[in-house]
This record gives sequence, structure tokens and C-alpha cells, in this order.
Amino acid sequence: MRTVHADVVIVGAGGAGLRAAIAVAQSDPKLRVALVSKVYPMRSHTVAAEGGAAGVIKSPDTLDAHFNDTVSGGDWLCDQDAVERFVEQAPKALRQLEHWGCPWNRDDAGAVQVRSFGGMKHQRTWFAADKSGFHILHTLFQTSQQFPSIQRFDEVFALDLLCADGAVGGITALHMQSGEPIVFLASSVIIATGGAGRVFPFTTNGAIKTGDGMAMAYRAGVPLKDIEFVQYHPTGLPGTGILITEGARGEGGLLVNKDGYRYLQDYNLGPPEPHPRPKAMELGPRDRLSQSFWHEQRKGRTIKSEFGDVVHLDIRHLGEKVIDERLPMVRELARAYVGVDPVYAPIPVRPVVHYTMGGIDTNIDAATRINGLYAAGECACVSINGANRLGSNSLTEILVFGEHAGLQAAQHARASKQHDEAAWEPAIAESFAAVRAVLERPKSSETIVGLRTELHDLMESAAGIYREEALLRDACKKVAALRQRYRTLSIDDHSMVFNTQLFQALELGAMLDVGEAMVHAALARRESRGAHQRLDFPERDDQQFLHHSLVHYGGEQPPSISTKPVTITRSQPAARVYGGAAT
Ligand code: FUM
Repeated sequence: MRTVHADVVIVGAGGAGLRAAIAVAQSDPKLRVALVSKVYPMRSHTVAAEGGAAGVIKSPDTLDAHFNDTVSGGDWLCDQDAVERFVEQAPKALRQLEHWGCPWNRDDAGAVQVRSFGGMKHQRTWFAADKSGFHILHTLFQTSQQFPSIQRFDEVFALDLLCADGAVGGITALHMQSGEPIVFLASSVIIATGGAGRVFPFTTNGAIKTGDGMAMAYRAGVPLKDIEFVQYHPTGLPGTGILITEGARGEGGLLVNKDGYRYLQDYNLGPPEPHPRPKAMELGPRDRLSQSFWHEQRKGRTIKSEFGDVVHLDIRHLGEKVIDERLPMVRELARAYVGVDPVYAPIPVRPVVHYTMGGIDTNIDAATRINGLYAAGECACVSINGANRLGSNSLTEILVFGEHAGLQAAQHARASKQHDEAAWEPAIAESFAAVRAVLERPKSSETIVGLRTELHDLMESAAGIYREEALLRDACKKVAALRQRYRTLSIDDHSMVFNTQLFQALELGAMLDVGEAMVHAALARRESRGAHQRLDFPERDDQQFLHHSLVHYGGEQPPSISTKPVTITRSQPAARVYGGAAT
């Protein structure tokens, strides 16, 4: 066993983790940062983000407008103090990235260009063609390499948090190539491991997004907040679930049904009567667009495909030059994965799980209730996204709150004394013993694929775009049974060297924990808000449910749920109104 002494340990080296590491290193070069990731940083899922990052850049846009779009987009479940901080710091965060070398698209005069995105009333999405995530991640990665105090531990799988007396003291981990156990000791730990889209079978999320970091914090006693809110992106490729960016609609792409009809005009994407205005249509928010697809499907107006029902995303009218300049990856992906060149034919698309609004409960400073433990990015719920995130807010979120987490963790590390190393021995032994138990368990009938497939089927049927009591109740029981069976799971590979089966088994454990939290929270929220739509409770109910849900880990027992007030500073809950073209 190896022990690494650091001041700040960061789990996850995607956008939020790298941004946090840079913040620590800049704030105090003497602080030792251990950046731990189960993949090489440039393989983190940030790389797959396409359309861009939101931040106010020019009039007529204003910080107030960004605030209002975000809060109403989140169906008033956002903490408004966090949103205020977010929109104020967004432009600076994006400019900072520019100074570090991020190649944002520019106009002929050299100014940064912005594009329209769903649910945003003004153009404020900065973009680098449709490879924004790649360029952001690359910029952060190369910047991080300037700081000798950041030591990377690539392909190291984090197992458990070490916590005692309400404070964190480090993590346990496994070196994936050799299987060597590693203990990282530090007084500050930041979790930045991304979301948990892989709990569902059909997702834009890379295979690594299995909710490991969420589950680590959850098991250690930090509740998962608003975890019932799972976002479906309206335009994924059938079969693979690969994202076709909202940027395609931002540039003018149209969604049509089997009759070539722009069906979104039939749904509630404009202001209610008696004040009709032009409807937002393709630039409505993601929750409403995905729900519209569901209705369209039930009316029999979608198109049959080999991989289920689809609608068509038509960008032909943009022309080859614009497509190649601004949406080159959309063209590449459509050609490679569905055999369609969008210059000449519409792209088949359907809703796909994309983002977890909920996550590790943090305050506005990215701090959890465990002293010294912070979380940032999709794994966290600092509550700027509420019940439905607006596209392009998340890339900015990883920058703004990644930096906050880094600064707070640095401050905490400077002020803290590290625990006596020997005090962690029992917790360390327990963590590695749990891994050995999986490795050494005698052959059983439970397999990773078997349990994962059952979990996927349950989540899709009970916690999809629309939900209802009976299915959720049943899912709670069945996920509990899957967790029970998971305890007898056996694997065939008993070696320690690059044992990918072992890591998949550990990931499955995290998925089961997070999936269980999702269905319990969805069952408890007997209303419809944002991405959480209940067929049996179709209205938003601010009287009873204008609060965050907190799901607490129950170990072998079912989780318990408590609530937390939503912070409202200046925007009282109202009807969500989408109309007119973005300016
Ligand atoms: O459609 C997209 O490019 C996705 C962006 C996002 O989720 O923020």
C-alpha cells in the first residue's frame, strides 16, 4: 500500500476538477494538490460537450436576463443566491479561459461570437464550433501543467472517503494498472466526478459517468439533493444516444414529425393566452421539448426507426458553409452513426438522458456538511439548475464553481492540521476489505451485465420523461432487491492487474446507490416540476413542494428523505413563459 500526503485531493480531472486544481495552485503554490482520476484527463466527459458555455457578453443581454432565464428554466427550484453569483462570475470565467487560450469562435471584427440556446431569451452561449467541451478541457489541461504543485494520478480509481468526527481526511483508491492500493491523506477533498447518466440505458453520457463520486459522498453521510431531476436532451442519435448539440437548433435547425410538421407549435412553449407572442419552438427549454416528443409519440406522429421512434432535425437550410463552420461535428456524427449527411437530409433524433440536475448537497461555496469536503460540477448540487438546467449553463458552472471549490479547499487546507495517520487505519482496512470481498467472492449467478440491465430497465420505465406512483413504488422495491443481490455478485477476473471487471463491479455499486436515491426522491415529489413530470400529479405544487429534497443513505435499509428550503432572493415563482426569437 502506498500513502500519498497532499493538502488538497481532487477526485475527477474533467473541467471542474482541473479548474479547481488551478485555483488551488494559483492561490498558494505551496499547497500540494493530488489530482486523482479514473481516466486520463482528456478522456473526461467534459470533452464530449458540444454547443458552448453561457455568459453575458453584450447588450441587449443583461445579468438580470441570465438570472431570470436560469431561475424560470429551473422551474423556481434554483437557489437564487447561487444563481446570482453564477451569472455575475460567468463572463469573467469565460474571459479567463480565453486568456488561457480557448479558441472561441469570433466574428470578422475579432469579437467573440455567441449563439442562441434553449430557454435563453438572448444570445449568450460562447462556442468553439461544436467542439466547445474539447477546447475547454484542453485549455484547462494545458494550463494545469504550468503548476508543479499539481501532481496527477491518472487511471487511479477512488474508492471511499476517509471521514471522522464530521471531517474528511482523504480517500482510498486503487491504481488501476497494478491494482496497488493507495491512500491519499489531505485535509481538503474536492469531488468533481461528473454525473450519473449511466444509471439509465440510453444516454449521451460516456461510460465513465456512473455516479461514483456522488455515491462516495452519499455513503459518507452527505445527502444527494434534488436527485430526482434527470434531464432528457431532446436530440440524441437513435441507437447510440450520441448528442446532437442544441447548437444545431441555436443556429436555426427545425424539429419536424413524420408529416414534416413543426410539432412544437402545438405544445406549451409560448406564453399563455391572452398575450400570444411568437413561440420559442425549437429554442424552448429541454424539459418541455422532450415532453413534447413523448406526446407526439403517443399521437402516432413520430417516425419509426430501427432503434425506436424518432423525429427529424432539419438543418439543410443552413447550407454546407455554415454547417462546416459552426456544426462540423454534427455533420461528422450524423454521417458516421446514422449514415445521414445533414447538408442533404434531416437527422433522426430522439430524447436521451443527458444530465443530473441533482447531486451532492453543497452550499453556495461548494462546501458539503462534512468539514473539508467540497464538490463541484455535475456531481454537485449547488442549486443553480433547479428542476431543469438550461443548455450551456453547465460548462460555465464547472468553471465558476470549480474555481470556488478550489479556493475554499485551499483556504481550509491552510487552516487545518492533518489527522494522525494511524487514526485512519480501521477505515482504510475496511475500504480495501470491501474490494477484496468482490474479488474473492466464489462464483454466484449474479453478473454485472445482469444486474445492470435490470437496473437500466427499471430506471427507464419508472423514472423516464413521465413518471407515476405505481411504477416508482415498484422500482423502489426492485432496486432494493438489486442492491441485495449485488452483495452476492461475483466476477471472473481475480487478478489485480487492469481488472476492468472489478472496476465495473464497483461502478455498478455506485449506480445502484444513486439509482435508488433517484426513485425514492421521485416517488416522494408528488408534483410536476421541470424534468420531473408525474402523470398522477400533473401540476407544480409550490405550497407543498417548493423545497429541495435531500436523500440520506440508509445502508442496507432504504434511504430516508428530508427537505431543505429553496433560497429565493428576488424572483417569486410564476408561470414559465417562452416566446420570441433570442436577440
Ligand atoms: O446540446 C448541447 O450542446 C449540450 C449542451 C449542454 O448540455 O450544456
